[in-house]
Amino acid sequence: MKLSGLFHGILVIVFVMSYTSLTSALTNFNVLNFGAKPNGVTDSTDGFLKAWDAACGSADSSFIYVPKGRYLVGAMAFKGQCKSPQIIIRIDGTIVAPLDYGVLGKSENWISFQGVTGVSITGAGAFDAKGPSLWTCKASNSNSCPSGATTLRFTNSNNIKIHGITSLNSQMFHIAINGCRNVHIQGVKIIAAGDSPNTDGIHVHLSTDVEIFSSSIKTGDDCISIGPGTKNLWIERVICGPGHGISIGSLAKDLKEEGVQNVTVMNTTFSNTQNGLRIKSWARPSTGFVEGVRFTDSVMRNVQNPIVIDQNYCPHNENCPGQISGVKIKDITYTDIRGTSSTPVAIKFNCSAENPCTEVKLQNVNLTYLNKAAQSFCSNVVGKAFDLVQPNGCLESIG
Ligand SMILES: *[C@@H]1O[C@H](CO)[C@@H](O)[C@H](O)[C@H]1NC(C)=O
Ligand SMILES: *[C@@H]1O[C@H](CO)[C@@H](O)[C@H](O)[C@H]1NC(C)=O
Ligand SMILES: *[C@@H]1O[C@H](CO)[C@@H](O)[C@H](O)[C@H]1NC(C)=O
Ligand SMILES: *[C@@H]1O[C@H](CO)[C@@H](O)[C@H](O)[C@H]1NC(C)=O
Repeated sequence: MKLSGLFHGILVIVFVMSYTSLTSALTNFNVLNFGAKPNGVTDSTDGFLKAWDAACGSADSSFIYVPKGRYLVGAMAFKGQCKSPQIIIRIDGTIVAPLDYGVLGKSENWISFQGVTGVSITGAGAFDAKGPSLWTCKASNSNSCPSGATTLRFTNSNNIKIHGITSLNSQMFHIAINGCRNVHIQGVKIIAAGDSPNTDGIHVHLSTDVEIFSSSIKTGDDCISIGPGTKNLWIERVICGPGHGISIGSLAKDLKEEGVQNVTVMNTTFSNTQNGLRIKSWARPSTGFVEGVRFTDSVMRNVQNPIVIDQNYCPHNENCPGQISGVKIKDITYTDIRGTSSTPVAIKFNCSAENPCTEVKLQNVNLTYLNKAAQSFCSNVVGKAFDLVQPNGCLESIG
């Protein structure tokens, strides 16, 4: 009797759940019905913004569909607060930026979401920011080039998903997560030239509970850059290169700065990158800190600086009073890191004289240079090396 009562209870729950998911069926908004044109030449900015307004104002969960085709759009800001509790944007087409970089170049963002909750971007589509002409301008050292727009930015938003899309040739960063909570990024493909300037793949800043899974990032700057105020970040199965690797920092840009806490980076591959796993801070005063970072299971292929902490960053030796970093770096673990360095020094810990790096742990590290043992460099670092660590010599060996 008891069992059948339980069974009945489960049936009721299942029924109620399917009933609620039926009644909260998605309301559909196809951008073609709001004036967007899939021909790559008609400006579709208005069509996208109108589709957003309709979806945002819907009482139901809503679904914005971008069918196959090419859509020319300028800078677009999608703003909350929405009535709709959930907005799924499925992009099967390619969103294309104007060819003239001057149109977007002075806006901070191309496609920006601000103060939204429960927004998902999915699909096999792409954002093509047409960055190369701006990169060429910057490479010619002309001071008249604008800094460029970030392709996709979420600001002050919660419960965000970005799945499966491609970001091509961003002017500046590809994806930026700023002041957000609970963000899930998966299966994203990022592509830009290895020499494109400031084209960070994914930038995370002042955000909590961000996860990045199974993504491939080929770009000119950091694969993933992690700014102040990042907490509970999980990165897994990410392939980087070309580019500058996964980087915590630059920190100490500002005197008053929040710390970076609880970061996990696992199962990553770096090919022909400038850095692998990096922590970087300016050599100047700051309240910032880095605490609780686990780098696990990484493969390095021909990487210039596979493992690096650099607290002495000060380009042109300008604006670094005392040349000492105030950032405190503590509890950093490197486990199962293997592969090849393209320079003799594979492990470099160049920490702050005033704030040495502490509780640094190396375990099962095997990095070679030209089929021989590589070297390590250590300054102001305290920690331990467990099991096989090659190159060794930096930290006290245990076992
Ligand atoms: C660290 O972050 C992970 C998610 O990345 C989370 O599961 C875990 O609970 C966090 N740990 C602490 C001590 O907050
Ligand atoms: C790392 O990821 C690859 C590809 O997803 C997988 O085949 C491999 O088993 C993973 N390694 C570990 C140790 O999880
Ligand atoms: C470490 O930092 C110091 C101080 O900025 C710098 O002079 C030195 O070249 C750095 N060493 C390495 C190996 O990068
Ligand atoms: C370290 O890696 C090299 C190159 O992959 C390999 O030949 C060597 O046996 C490894 N060393 C140990 C102790 O595992």
